[in-house]
Amino acid sequence: MGDEAVVILRNVSKAYVVGREKFMVLLNVSAEFYRGEMVGIHGPSGAGKTTLLRIIAGLERPDTGTVIVSGYDLGTLDEAGLSLLRNNIISYIPQDYGLVEDFTVQENVEMPLLIGGVRREVRKERVAEALSYVGMQGKERVKVRYLSGGEKQRVAIARALVTTPSVLLADEPTANLDYENAMRVAGVLKGISRDFGTAVIIVTHDQRILDLMDRCYTLIDGVLRPVSPPEALP
Ligand SMILES: Nc1ncnc2c1ncn2[C@@H]1O[C@H](COP(=O)(O)OP(=O)(O)OP(=O)(O)O)[C@@H](O)[C@H]1O
Ligand SMILES: [Mg+2]
Repeated sequence: MGDEAVVILRNVSKAYVVGREKFMVLLNVSAEFYRGEMVGIHGPSGAGKTTLLRIIAGLERPDTGTVIVSGYDLGTLDEAGLSLLRNNIISYIPQDYGLVEDFTVQENVEMPLLIGGVRREVRKERVAEALSYVGMQGKERVKVRYLSGGEKQRVAIARALVTTPSVLLADEPTANLDYENAMRVAGVLKGISRDFGTAVIIVTHDQRILDLMDRCYTLIDGVLRPVSPPEALP
């Protein structure tokens, strides 16, 4: 594991106002995530896990606090700057995969490179590499809507991987998968942290994959706390 902090959160707070009521979702969240590690965040439904990932991805802004990703202070960037970062440095896989169902596997995985203005031949090569990494080669021409849940998740990972991001965020990537598929998806994510030095941050309730994490946090009522590694327990 490297000692380069790729994501730094300092006193990040966020509230939602619904009608006249204000709900605190994140309370002074501070943490650092390093190059090449896979970190799990778990906690009860409604604890703010998705909100936290979306804030790290630059899809939402915190009310207060600082988010630094790969040296960029997200609070100083405008929407164009955040889009650029999302297309090059940060990959976010939402809980519902975020794929375009009527597009083929190839078209979905190619999209970040098209947006990034990458040449056609290079796009083809990089898509092939990403699909082969997740074990989805040969499915290029299939429309995403015909894939199984496990296959969709792996295509979503390929799309996230195709830009070789510094940070990969995955929201409940194994939630709807059987044991075999869950372990396969978690194994691919672990491989990405090792092979590409990506900081992989995973929101999960899934006890089956927690053992694969280098570290874990719990998020309860908006408060993020590190979980002691098992070997530190008496
Ligand atoms: N745009 C919004 N407006 C108002 N409230 C919101 C908004 N987005 C999220 N919330 C609320 O913030 C809280 C945290 O939501 P979040 O989706 O981050 O939780 P979560 O930990 O991901 O939950 P789950 O495990 O069910 O996915 C919830 O109470 C939710 O209803
Ligand atoms: Mg969520």
